[in-house]
Amino acid sequence: MANDQLRNDQLKEKAARASLQFVQNGQVVGLGTGTTATHFIKLLAEEVGKGLRIRGIPTSTRSRDLAESLGIPLTTLDQCQDIAVAVDGADEVDPKLRLIKGGGGALLREKIVASASRQLVIVADGSKQVPILGRFPLPVEVIRFSRALVAKRIAALGAQVQLRTEADGKPFLTDENNYILDCHFGEIRDPEALARHLSDMPGVVEHGLFIGMASVVLLARDTEIVELRR
Ligand code: A5P
Repeated sequence: MANDQLRNDQLKEKAARASLQFVQNGQVVGLGTGTTATHFIKLLAEEVGKGLRIRGIPTSTRSRDLAESLGIPLTTLDQCQDIAVAVDGADEVDPKLRLIKGGGGALLREKIVASASRQLVIVADGSKQVPILGRFPLPVEVIRFSRALVAKRIAALGAQVQLRTEADGKPFLTDENNYILDCHFGEIRDPEALARHLSDMPGVVEHGLFIGMASVVLLARDTEIVELRR
């Protein structure tokens, strides 16, 4: 790992460690997806090893496999629809705690789990904090059948739209077998309005704008953890 990357990874771990204080014995915990959430899952597994009693609901098959392999007891949304706290990463966080998520492709299950959680704790390195959302391309999960139509409609809103692909050029498939369109908006001046437009488009399954969902954001900087609350 290059030095900058290593430093960044240490910050992600620091943020993940700080989120452990939000997890209590007996709780059902949403397990996020991505490199920062992976740190959280590993640290949580250590706590489980020391006697913490929780059950996890993962937001992706990747996080499920990791949590299982580390011995974290799991449950499902079928069995439990009331999650005490979910801990997840983010691609961008603005001053109103509005988020862009989905860089890792798990935004649909992440949003479902977040919506069932009494607290959503976001863990991130300080570089994710932005004054205005939109520098990071907004991921939009779409039904495969609707891909071209939805791409055209989102382009008409002013974005450059790219179908997410794997290294071999094949389209990336989400855990629910949908496609992701990465939408480069530049600055998103009115995230609420954009969220409504996208939700209203037939063929859109979910978008990566998480508005009014995060209760706490823990941003790790070199010397401190900054805690933002809504
Ligand atoms: C996964 O789909 C995403 O929402 C991640 O939470 C987000 O992309 C942050 O990922 P990293 O922690 O890897 O930066």
